[in-house]
Order: sequence, then C-alpha cells, then structure tokens
Amino acid sequence: SSGALWGGRFTGGPADALAALSKSTQFDWRLAPYDIRGSKAHARVLHRAGLLTDAELDGMLEALDKLAADVESGSFGPAVDDEDVHSALERGLIERAGPELGGKLRAGRSRNDQVATLFRMWLREAARRIGSGVLDVVDALVTQATAHPNAPMPGRTHLQHAQPVLLAHQLGAHAQALVRDVERLRDWDRRAAVSPYGSGALAGSSLGLDPEAVAAELGFDSSAENSIDGTAARDFAAEAAFVLAMVAVDLSRLSEEVILWATAEFSYITLDDAFSTGSSIMPQKKNPDVAELARGKAGRLIGNLTGLLATLKGLPLAYNRDLQEDKEPLFDSAEQLEVLLPAVSGMVETLVFHTERLAELAPAGFTLATDIAEWLVRQGVPFRVAHEAAGGCVRAAEARGVGLADLTDAELAQVHPALTPAVREVLTVAGSIASRDARGGTAGVRVEEQLDRLRLVTADH
Ligand code: ARG
Repeated sequence: SSGALWGGRFTGGPADALAALSKSTQFDWRLAPYDIRGSKAHARVLHRAGLLTDAELDGMLEALDKLAADVESGSFGPAVDDEDVHSALERGLIERAGPELGGKLRAGRSRNDQVATLFRMWLREAARRIGSGVLDVVDALVTQATAHPNAPMPGRTHLQHAQPVLLAHQLGAHAQALVRDVERLRDWDRRAAVSPYGSGALAGSSLGLDPEAVAAELGFDSSAENSIDGTAARDFAAEAAFVLAMVAVDLSRLSEEVILWATAEFSYITLDDAFSTGSSIMPQKKNPDVAELARGKAGRLIGNLTGLLATLKGLPLAYNRDLQEDKEPLFDSAEQLEVLLPAVSGMVETLVFHTERLAELAPAGFTLATDIAEWLVRQGVPFRVAHEAAGGCVRAAEARGVGLADLTDAELAQVHPALTPAVREVLTVAGSIASRDARGGTAGVRVEEQLDRLRLVTADH
C-alpha cells in the first residue's frame, strides 16, 4: 500500500508525475532522527492528555525506539512511493506497532508543524557544528598571528600600498569578522529556539496537548506564540542562510588574499603541499584550490540565500507547499561549510609567511607619507599644510628614485621648514607601526591585546 497520509477523500492515487514532483525523501530523510524524537515527545503529550493509555504509550515508545534504531542502522529507509520523511516514518511505525496503535500518533499534529519543528532542530545542531568550525579558523589565524608578533607588511586600501601594518593585525582583522559570524549564529539560535510543534496544520490543536512540554523535550526554549506563524514562518531559515552565506563571504575574503599572496608577484606566502594542488599539464604549478573553492562556494551560498528569499516573497499565510523548497538550500549551505571549514583551517594553519619579503615591501610605495604628515601635526603644523608637505616629500623622493627615509636634511627643509632631521624617527616601518598605539591600532601592544581577547573567545570551544 502507498504510505499516503491523505487517501480518505480521494478515489485514486496520485498521478506518477505528481508523485515524482511531490517527493522529498531524497533530501528530507536527513530529518528522520528528529522526526522520531518529535514523535516520542508527541506520544508523551497524547498520553498526558488521556489519549494514550500507559500501555499504549509504552508500546508506542518501544516501536519508535525500534524505528530509530532501524533508521540509524539503515535497515529502514524511504520506499519509492513514500512522499516525504514524515509519511515514510508513519509507515515504519505502523509496521512496528501495528495499524491500531501506530495510527493513533498522528492525532493533534500535522506535517506542517512537524516539518517546521524538525527543520529548526536540524539547523540548530548544524549551526553549532559550523560555529565550532569557524572558531577553528579563528584559532588558526590567531596561531599564525602569535607566531609572527612583530612582522610588518604593506597594509592596503584600493589594493594599493597604504600604510605599514603588522601581519598579526591583518590576520586579526579576518579573525574579528569570523568571530562576529559565530556571535550571529549564537544570536540566531536564541530566536530559532521556538518550537512550532502543537501548531497543527495552522490553527493549533483541540486535543488538550501541551506544546510547551514538547518544546522542552526537544531542546527548545519555548513553543510558538502563534500557530499560524509557527507553521508559516521561515525567517529562521532565511536568517540562517544569511549567516551561513556571511561565513562563506568572510572565508572568501580571506581566501582572496591567500590567492593573491601566493602569486609570484606578491610572494608573501607559500602554501603547504597538503593544502594545494598541481596541474595536470603544467608540472611547476601549485594552485590555491582550497581558497578558490572557498571563494566559489561563497557564490553558491549567496545563491541559496537569495533563492530561499525569492521562494518566501509573496507567500500568503499559512503553510504553502512552496515551503518544501526551504530545506535543500539550507542543507546545502550547512553541508558545504562543513567540508569547507576544516580545509580552510588547515590551509591557514600551514601557511608559510615570507616575513623578509613582507618587511621589505612594507615601506614601498611611500607608505610612510602619512607618518610625516602626522609628525608635522604633532609639531603644531595644521594638517592641511602637513599633508601638502608630506606630498612634497613623496614628489622629491620619487623624482630622485629613492625612499622617503633617503631624503637629505636639505631636501626635507626645502619641502617645509618644520621638517627637521628629527622627522626620521617616524620614517621607519617599526616606528610608524609603534606610533599607532590607540585602541584598535596596529602597534604591537594593541595587537597583542586584541589577540588575547580572541584567545578568550576560542578558548572554550
Ligand atoms: N514535505 C512537506 C515540506 O517539506 C511537508 C508536508 C506538508 N505537506 C502538506 N501537504 N501539507 O514542507
């Protein structure tokens, strides 16, 4: 017999084309263990409402445990004509508990409140694993920063040399963004911790069931305040899709730097053999595939977010079958990150930084010009004038093909009388970096404080 849950008013089964279209077991089977946990909680509230005897509850829980074990071992799975995970598991329950008892579980619930609950459960667990994977990347960044506490590098804006910064400061910047993503996951979880179970199809249940008891048993903070919202809302999924896409985008920005840094022109880093690939034709190639896949997957996760938002746009309340399209994008986003994150952590952990090259490039492109201007400001020169004078130094140095530190005393004085030889104290990369010592700045003391705080965040994961 077909496992259809809704045969009563129909004279025949669905057309093959409809059944093929309707079917979701190929992706929603992931929800099977959660469906069974939900069923056990539901059996208990049916029992407490007097709708199952003590013996029936025992029989039901025993059959559900058997079903869970068979799902886990793979000996029970979806059949070709099972529409979705819920109908397949009802079939499995009836096979184990008999039609009389098995047929009682569906009272007071609908696949609409079930699926909304199970999807939240799946996502909340995935979000926890992903948060931990993101913190592993943060760990790797902090470890690299810790290993290079004083290494300068060119800081860039517009991809042009801007001002020297510490490599540890740059790595910390990527870590900060990823830590915010972990905070977003945690913050999202508080809003997602609401159970729609008990909302029924949309209007709630008439059977005296206790949605708060189900919510507590399934690890939620509370049950839905509004049954229509409970079954129709998918902002929890869209928000999760955004946070996961944001993680991917942040990994992609880090990866783009890794890709640039590994080029011959930059030569900032060497990728570890274990985290790079070769070319099938060019024997010399060593490619940053991990970083490129991170960049590519960010596009895919953005697509999952925008696809889901497009599905939700304009949907009337409450449940509509369109909502079956909510799961694949989220399963995909979460599962892509779960394979990506360990690869990115490993790539970052094993990067070899060419600190001599970074140090040599740090002052290139007159990156200390701002330091001249700010030094003049500290001598009482208005910034407008100081900026002009520092620009004059760049012009003079460029004309002679030398660095700013190579300008003679006479050349400096000629640019502006306040430019005494003392200005040379800021014309070193180390001096420039050390001078940016306000909170958040690139000075070593500040970067060290920042790394200490990042270590606290990653310490207990
Ligand atoms: N498989 C559906 C989903 O993923 C749940 C079933 C609800 N179907 C229904 N006809 N009310 O959303």
